[in-house]
Amino acid sequence: MVIGSENWTLTVLSDAPAASESAADIVSNTLLSKPDAAITFPTGATPLGMFDVLAARAARGEIDFSGASIFCLDEYVGVTDEDPNSFTRWLREVLLDRIGIKSDQLHTLPVTADDLFASAGKFEEAISARGGLDLAVLGLGPNGHVGYNEPGSSVDSRTRVITLTPQSRHQASAYWEGSIPIPDQAMTMGVGTLLESKQIVLLVIGEAKAVMLRRTLEEPVSTDVPASLLRTAGSRLTIVADEAAASELSIVHSR
Ligand code: PGA
Repeated sequence: MVIGSENWTLTVLSDAPAASESAADIVSNTLLSKPDAAITFPTGATPLGMFDVLAARAARGEIDFSGASIFCLDEYVGVTDEDPNSFTRWLREVLLDRIGIKSDQLHTLPVTADDLFASAGKFEEAISARGGLDLAVLGLGPNGHVGYNEPGSSVDSRTRVITLTPQSRHQASAYWEGSIPIPDQAMTMGVGTLLESKQIVLLVIGEAKAVMLRRTLEEPVSTDVPASLLRTAGSRLTIVADEAAASELSIVHSR
């Protein structure tokens, strides 16, 4: 089902594998039309199915990431790529190593720099030097965050350090089954950074996200739900959801 509204597109698929496949199609088409695309991928549980599809397609030679640039979306302040709680390390394991991304294709967030503010500015410059992001694939946080843009993040926020909410730290702790301490702060691309991407995909899977997806799409755009700010991207935004995540949406039920 595809619904156009406020100019963005909502695609609802029957289940998680179908939604993962659909999101992977968008990534694949971006690469096919622009082999040197600049892309950011989400962390979290949601994208794992999409990553499997992309890795399988790359292994079969159907898509080629060798010209792509990958920009990391978010990372904890002070962690190194070798730390067990590093999102960059995690992304390497679940996707980047599988699709052959080399270190010179990967732009990591400068979370161990002495001057985090200046370094975040240089990260933004690196995105601009590539002509901006071609594709931002994002997940939806339980509190409405995108990347680590927590509630209150402004529409024009840039890459910066942010203090994590207790809810986000709790969510992150579950990724590592509570065994690894989660830092208080993270560096994240800003909402404004993401909104400048030529294409944005918000991938939302599972019933646990249903209420937050309704708030994201059906309540007024608000910094209380940072994901809702993505709607201002209009036709550059595609939301890909499974039926469970879309189950609270009146725009789906009314059809
Ligand atoms: P999840 O996280 O995929 O693990 O639910 C989404 C997010 O916080 O972006």
